[in-house]
Amino acid sequence: MSSAHFVLNNVSYRYDEDAKPALNKVSFSVNKGEFVAVLGHNGSGKSTLAKLLNGLFLPSEGHILVSGMDTRDEQYTWDIRQKAGMVFQNPDNQIVATVVRDDVAFGMENIGVPSPQMPPRIDEALGAVGMLPFVDRAPHLLSGGQKQRVAIAGILAMHPEALILDEATAMLDPSGRKEVFDTVQRLNQEQGITVIWITHFMEEAAKSERVMVIHQGEVRMDGTPREVFAQGETLRSFRLDVPPMALLSEELRGRGIDLPPDILTVEDMEREVLARCR
Ligand SMILES: Nc1ncnc2c1ncn2[C@@H]1O[C@H](COP(=O)(O)OP(=O)(O)O)[C@@H](O)[C@H]1O
Ligand SMILES: [Mg+2]
Repeated sequence: MSSAHFVLNNVSYRYDEDAKPALNKVSFSVNKGEFVAVLGHNGSGKSTLAKLLNGLFLPSEGHILVSGMDTRDEQYTWDIRQKAGMVFQNPDNQIVATVVRDDVAFGMENIGVPSPQMPPRIDEALGAVGMLPFVDRAPHLLSGGQKQRVAIAGILAMHPEALILDEATAMLDPSGRKEVFDTVQRLNQEQGITVIWITHFMEEAAKSERVMVIHQGEVRMDGTPREVFAQGETLRSFRLDVPPMALLSEELRGRGIDLPPDILTVEDMEREVLARCR
């Protein structure tokens, strides 16, 4: 058995028949348990891709297989949506109830989980995102990062195999961003959930296993963070940047400070700086 979770074969998507395709002949696959960051400037096709991956949109051309199921085959639509949960940018738009517990239960209600099974699944999901102490709180009073973690819990309670997060940290402050990213990274590592992490924060992409860059509806780069961020010129041509810590280390190296060329994250820089303080 192949371990492919998502397989895209020559996928194009058009919103209008005459318009330029929002995605143009895209092919790639993502294995089960991978953590893939998807980068791209506004309008590059990231959200379109997200909606294709869980069968919300169907390809205008080509095929998408999710765990071997063709998204165009109607008998699988339900299964595919249930197994790939989506988290969106605005945490407020994802709140559906006045108490966290009910908010987390909402997705399970939609897929017909029997009521007696819900309480343990709610506890387990909230525990996994570190929000169990908030189970009786009002979601609208939580911070942005906490709201996103509740949204993620609502998906986890449905026992998904993949999480697709479409700029889930874009509206959060830096601590909220880190809180949500770390939570999702942990779910990936501990539970083997496949993650598609769409972002425009280079620092988040730098901490992923694999980075894909989309530009004008095409996948233009695909590799490890080190491979992708080594190509500053190419990234800039797609109106993207290298991560801040990579820039800083480049700057410092230019001033004669001996730093390795592969610093991408705050953690990498911290390690180098501390090594020099001993
Ligand atoms: N509902 C829509 N109707 C028509 N065109 C759309 C619609 N949504 C997105 N597009 C177009 O499709 C392209 C890709 O958009 P999108 O996937 O939202 O990009 P991103 O998420 O990377 O910003 C853009 O050119 C955008 O204008
Ligand atoms: Mg988008």
